[in-house]
Amino acid sequence: MTREIGHRPAALQLLRWYIDMGVDTATSDTPADWFARSERPKPSPFSDNRQIRQRNDTAPPQRAQIAKTSSRSGSETPMAPDAAVMTARENAKSAASLDDLRESLAKFEGCGLKATAKNMCFARGNAEAQIMLIGEAPGRDEDLQGLPFVGRAGQLLDKMLAAIGMSEDNAYITNIVYWRPPGNRTPTPQESQVCRPFLERQIELVDPKIIVFLGGAAAKQMFDTTDGIMRLRGKWRTYSTGEHDYRAIATLHPAYLLRTPAAKRHAWRDMLAIKLALDAE
Ligand code: URA
Repeated sequence: MTREIGHRPAALQLLRWYIDMGVDTATSDTPADWFARSERPKPSPFSDNRQIRQRNDTAPPQRAQIAKTSSRSGSETPMAPDAAVMTARENAKSAASLDDLRESLAKFEGCGLKATAKNMCFARGNAEAQIMLIGEAPGRDEDLQGLPFVGRAGQLLDKMLAAIGMSEDNAYITNIVYWRPPGNRTPTPQESQVCRPFLERQIELVDPKIIVFLGGAAAKQMFDTTDGIMRLRGKWRTYSTGEHDYRAIATLHPAYLLRTPAAKRHAWRDMLAIKLALDAE
């Protein structure tokens, strides 16, 4: 007992370190001893399928293993990236309303991020809005509440909107991926691409006058460019879903502005350009 209490500060420090590193979510209810697992003998190339399945069941979730589809035998097998994008396109295209789209996305198994997320974050705000803001990915608070931009970055985003006389009553807010990436890492191109048909359909169904991409990850992915956000921001472009063209602009991500307050002057300029464009509509 005394020894346990003696270990507590070290355990707390370790937990704090994990949280700082972004490891703040349990992916399973039972602890796993990965060290013990790595000591297991390698399976022989002649192992039967049952052994292979057992190994996969206990291995840490690999991205390719998480996007799943049902095989004819009923067991779950990974969905190949191309198949996942094709399924996403078909499902998204057939959604006649935002409710349909949300339902279809909730059933979609082609994005590996779903396996570790607690909730899907579809959107918040007004679906009749003239402006649609698209960020990178849900974070911890968003994952817990199932809504985009509700944490610290979201609070700053609300202030940025308020500075041009707007709020979620007349703005529609979402992200390029609908589930939180573990540890808040940037979504991979594959994760973004597999969500993109849903996002493009969401854009068409909201049909905003103006789209604002928040931050480099969203701007690069949606404008299909490797240019950095400092080069991309503040310039009007056309974003096409294939069906429709939209006026679009990128600005700095509120999370970046929290870390780099001096950059707020650029974001302010972008917000004024957005206000002018909305007033002209
Ligand atoms: N950052 C984002 O890009 N999106 C969110 O929803 C929250 C933080």
